[in-house]
Amino acid sequence: MELLTPATEHDNSTLERLESLVAELTLEEKVHLLTGRDFWTTRPLEKIGLRRMLFSDGPTGVRGEVWDERRPSLNFPSAAAISSSWDPVIADRLGVASAVEARRKGVDVVLGPTINLHRSPLGGRHFEAFSEDPVLTAELAAAYVSGVQRNGVGATPKHYVANDSETDRFTVNVKVADRPLRELYLLAFEKAIVEAEAWLVMSAYNSINGITVTENELLEAPLNSEWGFNGVVISDWTAVRSVNSAAASQDLVMPGPEGPWGETLVRAVTAGEIPEAAVDRKVLRILQLAARVGALAGFDAVLPEPWSMEELIAFAREASTAGTVMVKNDGLLPISPASVRKVAVIGHNALHARTQGGGSATVVPEEVVNPLDGIRAAFSADKVSYSMGAVVQEGIAELPLEQIGNPVTGEPGIQVRFLDSDGQELLAEDRQSTALVWFGGDAPITASSSIQFHCIYTPAQNGTVRLGFSTLGRGRIFVDNKLIHEATLEPVGTDLGAALLAPPAATVPLEVKEGAPLDLRVEIDTRTTGALLNTLGITIGIEAADEDPETLIHEAVEAARAADIAVVVVGTNSHVESEGYDRASLELPGLQDRLVHAVAAANPRTVVVVNSGSPVLMPWRNEVAAILIGYFGGQEFGHALADIMTGTAEPGGRLPTTWPDRQEDVPVINVTPDSDGSLTYAEGIHIGYRAWLKAGITPAYEFGYGLGYTQWSIDSVEAPAEATANAAHPVIIAMTNTGGRAGKNVVQVYAEKPGSAVERPVRWLVAATPVWAEPGETVTTVLNIPTRLLAYWDHGWRYEPGEYVLRIGTSVSELPLASTLVLVED
Ligand code: BGC
Repeated sequence: MELLTPATEHDNSTLERLESLVAELTLEEKVHLLTGRDFWTTRPLEKIGLRRMLFSDGPTGVRGEVWDERRPSLNFPSAAAISSSWDPVIADRLGVASAVEARRKGVDVVLGPTINLHRSPLGGRHFEAFSEDPVLTAELAAAYVSGVQRNGVGATPKHYVANDSETDRFTVNVKVADRPLRELYLLAFEKAIVEAEAWLVMSAYNSINGITVTENELLEAPLNSEWGFNGVVISDWTAVRSVNSAAASQDLVMPGPEGPWGETLVRAVTAGEIPEAAVDRKVLRILQLAARVGALAGFDAVLPEPWSMEELIAFAREASTAGTVMVKNDGLLPISPASVRKVAVIGHNALHARTQGGGSATVVPEEVVNPLDGIRAAFSADKVSYSMGAVVQEGIAELPLEQIGNPVTGEPGIQVRFLDSDGQELLAEDRQSTALVWFGGDAPITASSSIQFHCIYTPAQNGTVRLGFSTLGRGRIFVDNKLIHEATLEPVGTDLGAALLAPPAATVPLEVKEGAPLDLRVEIDTRTTGALLNTLGITIGIEAADEDPETLIHEAVEAARAADIAVVVVGTNSHVESEGYDRASLELPGLQDRLVHAVAAANPRTVVVVNSGSPVLMPWRNEVAAILIGYFGGQEFGHALADIMTGTAEPGGRLPTTWPDRQEDVPVINVTPDSDGSLTYAEGIHIGYRAWLKAGITPAYEFGYGLGYTQWSIDSVEAPAEATANAAHPVIIAMTNTGGRAGKNVVQVYAEKPGSAVERPVRWLVAATPVWAEPGETVTTVLNIPTRLLAYWDHGWRYEPGEYVLRIGTSVSELPLASTLVLVED
């Protein structure tokens, strides 16, 4: 094992200083630094001027040390939307904005980007990852890492590696051959390490070919020995299982303070079972990280240029438009608000959009612009009607802030009291939300015996609501001091993260009167919650109103009929797509498909907006005039959507992942491990579009596809006739905007190897770049293709000499131009 590899002389002197600090420490002190201090921080050590380092989830936004609406964060679009921009500049600026947010919140390290691949569209964290393609992923992830780190904050590519689905994620054994591992799953990480020089990497929960990642040789090779990584391998939360991982290239155990290293590791080193040099190497890396982020006396971090809140919000809006993919437009869009008399906005997600995915990636934004808000602002509120059309919500939704009052302060909100077994108050919080999560932080969850949630709830409707709570353990609901319900909720499934963040619910029917206040108290018995590591998630709220589905559809159809244009926002909910579990189906939840069929039949001028983080089936796609895939578009989602609909902005996105027509067509779909706990990547090097091409099946919308508001011609391609191994092959492409508006396109280059001696994908992406042009303008772009991307892995990168075809176009199957090259041996 090499110690840190110094890159420059300056690094050399830094290294010497850090090494001398390591030399000052006892074995116990060194081992102490290798396990977290608590949920989110590392251990300080005054003796050497080391302060704690604070880690925070995101990765598209930075939550900070607490999950708390009183300390909100910017909610940028999720990675699937960022990658749809195909624009490294957007990814870089997201990195910069994240660094600004991190510093505002005292955060030293952002736990992202998520670099796992969209292997199956059922993957629950698909929204959080970039693409099914490793080259596109690598490009954007590296840009994000460099944007974060140029500003003195650490980035953490995760989850290394092959953690591409959620079912049994703590234990699943991914069986994957060397070729796909190298050519797909590791390739996606490589650039963020080699070029962007990430300061950390997060090791995943899963095993690879029988060995859990935190003990796996893959942490050393290729990560350290081939890619020159000199940062910290931080574990995914609780992923370190035993002291054996200390002998591997795992550096830091999170969270703390407990963990399998500590005393056990001190004993193992003292007994000569693990060399002290291995511990020194880990400590040195942690100190180097501290020096980089400014957590070590005598070392200053770069500080980001400040961005104002307005600039951050404007970026969230721009990133959302850049990542919105228009997959269909019969000429209806863009539409000028002046030309419209009435707009019918329809859909549950139009009012309650998903602007981000669930699980650890969640941030708590101050304000979200829903599609309905955005469309009202752009078209003028009096022109816009709203109907729900179909229920998408599953379980309970929090009580609206305007309907709850804190009984002590009189302000909008709820009072939360943590009580010990004698009923003594340990802590009280005045909160402005009834969806609360304590995930790290100092609230006395395990120290308390019960928690009381108390508010004055003033319903905004008449009739029966189903009121309840969603958490784990025993809870009681009191209305006007009368116990009306008591229930004990057990976890569903085995994933503790999912149990915490998407727990089951218990509800009870309650007669309410509009405007008539009720004293509502919910008590949770914390000794029954199984509260792991001082964490707790609870929502107090109501189920979606039990309205007749036919009436909802009928109302929406009538509204659509009466309007010039209908906008239906369809989407998923947090029970369908989140961390901790995979999807069971690609269908939209509830009766949304029926709703779209019916609305489209009533009004041919129907635009569908898809609000999901991953592909959904669109059985109505041939019946509607336009389709916009908006993903989880961040807090400015509604404004961005209106910008695109009105033509103020170009729909900048192209699909980073194939969207199927039918679930049975998807070539790689299974995410459920076998009975022996293994998930076999039997498809080898063929995932995503590579698998679709191999199977010869046409999807609904192919990889790389998307429309803008102007037309283009791809005029010419020029490239040298020969290329050599490990070099850059320049390809010069000229494109003209032949339409009447300024616009964006994404030019893509795919390689093919006819008659290859080894198995190859039909074609594979080797380069792409966004292109902007004014009407009539011709733009010439030079793409430098690393010939490494033509090599295949067989115990090393092998270059097959001979002819390759490069195909150039605007999606994996729209490739009008070609250029051949001969790869010659050096
Ligand atoms: C997730 C990580 C996350 C960590 C801390 C884990 O369960 O897999 O992505 O950073 O929790 O919240």
